[in-house]
Amino acid sequence: MSTAAEKAMAAGVNVDLVMLDGFVQPAILVDKLKTVKYVPIREDDILLCTYPKSGTHWTWEILNMIVAGKAEYAKHWQNSAWLEYRTEEELAELASPRILHTHLRPSQLPDAVWDKRCKVVYVRRNAKDCLVSSYNQLSQQVWKDNPFGKRSYTGTWDDFIDLYLDGSFPGGSYFEHTVEWNNISKAHKDFEICRLQYEDLKKDCVQEIRRMADYLGRRLPDQTYQAISDACSFKNLKHANEKIKDQTYHFNWQDGSSGYFRKGITGDWKNWFTVAQSERFDKVYEERLKETFPY
Ligand code: A3P
Repeated sequence: MSTAAEKAMAAGVNVDLVMLDGFVQPAILVDKLKTVKYVPIREDDILLCTYPKSGTHWTWEILNMIVAGKAEYAKHWQNSAWLEYRTEEELAELASPRILHTHLRPSQLPDAVWDKRCKVVYVRRNAKDCLVSSYNQLSQQVWKDNPFGKRSYTGTWDDFIDLYLDGSFPGGSYFEHTVEWNNISKAHKDFEICRLQYEDLKKDCVQEIRRMADYLGRRLPDQTYQAISDACSFKNLKHANEKIKDQTYHFNWQDGSSGYFRKGITGDWKNWFTVAQSERFDKVYEERLKETFPY
């Protein structure tokens, strides 16, 4: 019988996938995932935790600006500080306070994150918009060193929905990820994290930046929040990443665009899902998260 990883590859995922502890994982990550728990963590590290396509680039830049106290772009792409993809040496070279980002579930994170009571910012996004964003990324992106040398996903849109619902695509399960983050206060009593929602950032970015700054204990003047919000608008941040930033840690998509800055809107899923696909999705969503799909 084939594994979920093998099924995903047969359905058109052109990333080498394996099973690890019952979860589908990119093979390239397996060694790192076995050791990431012991990665040295500093007390002043800030962890940005997201499920893929939840607005990680956006929030990472905002956090960098809050820490810098001004609306100035970080030199590198956020991948320079990607906990599970950078080597220990690369992470050690980052200046404090580091703003590390990760797509890992809480149970996969280094124990020191909790022991040292690091600041943890968690961003969630409408699952169907994450799915559409992932589909667009994987069906257009060719990763550097992709052993197959082709786009990361060449299957159908309909099959992609099933892979997503099964959690058997390279990003892992939205549901496993979300359930663990929803239950974080049970796993780590009295640990205060800052929870954000992509849709709230779209609605009132200044307010959400203020919330982040308060949580980090780094209050700034109101005009600085506004300046950060403006510098990190979709258009400005896309321009900064594609035209201003050092490109060392950037992965191009097939068409040569950065791709990570696609549309930056809420509700794009309505342009993709048929009614039947949406109902199929909602059923699993309700079963897994014990909540009704709210959008
Ligand atoms: P779409 O593909 O729906 O456009 P991540 O950074 O976690 O990979 O998330 C990428 C998603 O966030 C993409 O969504 C991208 O366009 C969107 N995004 C990036 N920067 C943004 C910004 N400044 N404002 C709003 N959305 C942004």
